[in-house]
Amino acid sequence: MEQTVLEVKNLTVSFHTEKGVITPVNGVWLRVPAGKIVGVVGESGCGKSMTARAIMGLIKFPGKVTGGEILLDGRNIAVLPEKQRRALRGAEISMIFQEPMTSLNPVVKVGRQVDEAVRLHTHCTRAEAKRKTLEMFREVEIPEPETRYNCYPHQLSGGLRQRVMIAMAMICRPRLLIADEPTTALDVTVEAQILKLLEKLRDGGTSVLLISHNLGVIARTCDEVSVMYAGRIVEHGETAALFEKPLHPYTRGLLRSVASLRAGGETLQTIPGVVPNLLHLSKGCAFSLRCGQCGADCEQNAPEFREIAPGHFARCFRTEKEGEE
Ligand SMILES: Nc1ncnc2c1ncn2[C@@H]1O[C@H](COP(=O)(O)OP(=O)(O)OP(=O)(O)O)[C@@H](O)[C@H]1O
Ligand SMILES: [Mg+2]
Repeated sequence: MEQTVLEVKNLTVSFHTEKGVITPVNGVWLRVPAGKIVGVVGESGCGKSMTARAIMGLIKFPGKVTGGEILLDGRNIAVLPEKQRRALRGAEISMIFQEPMTSLNPVVKVGRQVDEAVRLHTHCTRAEAKRKTLEMFREVEIPEPETRYNCYPHQLSGGLRQRVMIAMAMICRPRLLIADEPTTALDVTVEAQILKLLEKLRDGGTSVLLISHNLGVIARTCDEVSVMYAGRIVEHGETAALFEKPLHPYTRGLLRSVASLRAGGETLQTIPGVVPNLLHLSKGCAFSLRCGQCGADCEQNAPEFREIAPGHFARCFRTEKEGEE
C-alpha cells in the first residue's frame, strides 16, 4: 500500500453571513499519496481555494472549519491549536498562489525574503541562510542566482517571481506543497516551465496538491485528479482513467467544453444551467439543476461518493449510463 501524505475527510467550511449560513466546502474528501501530484479542478467559486486555505489553517473570520479531519502523515492537524498549526506552515505544508506579487514584500530583496523563511523555522546564521537560499534558487532553476538574490520583486518577470515563491515554499522541504492556480497569471511558455518544475519537485519526493480550473494543466501534470462542484468532490480517479472514462456528468460536461475549443469551435460549449446558490442548496444532488441525466431520485437524495471501478470514485446515481446522454 502506497504511503499517504495528506488525507482530508469530510472537511466542511461554513460562513455566517447576514443572509444565512453558507457552506462553500461541504464534506470534501481528498487524498495525496507520497510523491504524487493530485489535481483539484472545478469552475470558479466551487470552493478550491477555500479547501486549500482550510488545509493550511488559514480560514479567516467569519469563515470557520466546522467539521472533518485533515490528516498529515496520519495525524489530524485540524484539532491542533493555532500555535502548532503555525509551526507546520512553511515547514510541513507550504502554499503558493496565483499572483506571487501579492505574497512578496515589494521593498525587500527577494533573496532576503527567502532567508527569512529559512530563519523562521531553523536556527542558523545569516550566512547559512543565504547559502541555503542560493542552493534552492539553483534547484528551482533561477538563472544567475547571486544576481537575482539582490533583486526586488518588481525587477523580476512573473515567471521568476513564481520561482522565488516556489523556492520560499520549498526551503524547509515540506511534506506537501499546495499550488493554487500557480500558472494562471503566466503566459503558456512560462506555464509549461513552472509545471515541469512541479514535476521535478514531485520526482524529488514532494507531494503536490495542484489546484486549477484549467483541464489542460491538470491533464498534463497530475497523477490523480479530484473534480469539485459546489463545495463537494464529485469524482476522483487516476488522470488517464478520469479523462478516458469520466463517470460524473459534470466531468463529462467539463471535458466536452474543452473538446469543443480544441476542435476550433468559436464558442466554448458550456454546461447549461447555473451554479447553485450556496444559500439554498437542495437536499438532492447539487448538480441536478444542470444535469442532462437527472431523475426524480437525484432531486430527492444526495448520492454517496462511491468507488465505481478500482481507484475511481464518483458521486452520482447514473454513472453506469455513461455515454448515453
Ligand atoms: N468571505 C466570504 N464570505 C462568504 N462567502 C465567501 C467568502 N469568501 C468566499 N466565499 C464563497 O466561497 C465560495 C468558494 O470560493 P473559493 O475562492 O474557494 O472558490 P474557487 O474554487 O477557488 O474559485 P476560483 O476558481 O475563482 O479561484 C465562493 O462561492 C464564494 O462566494
Ligand atoms: Mg481560487
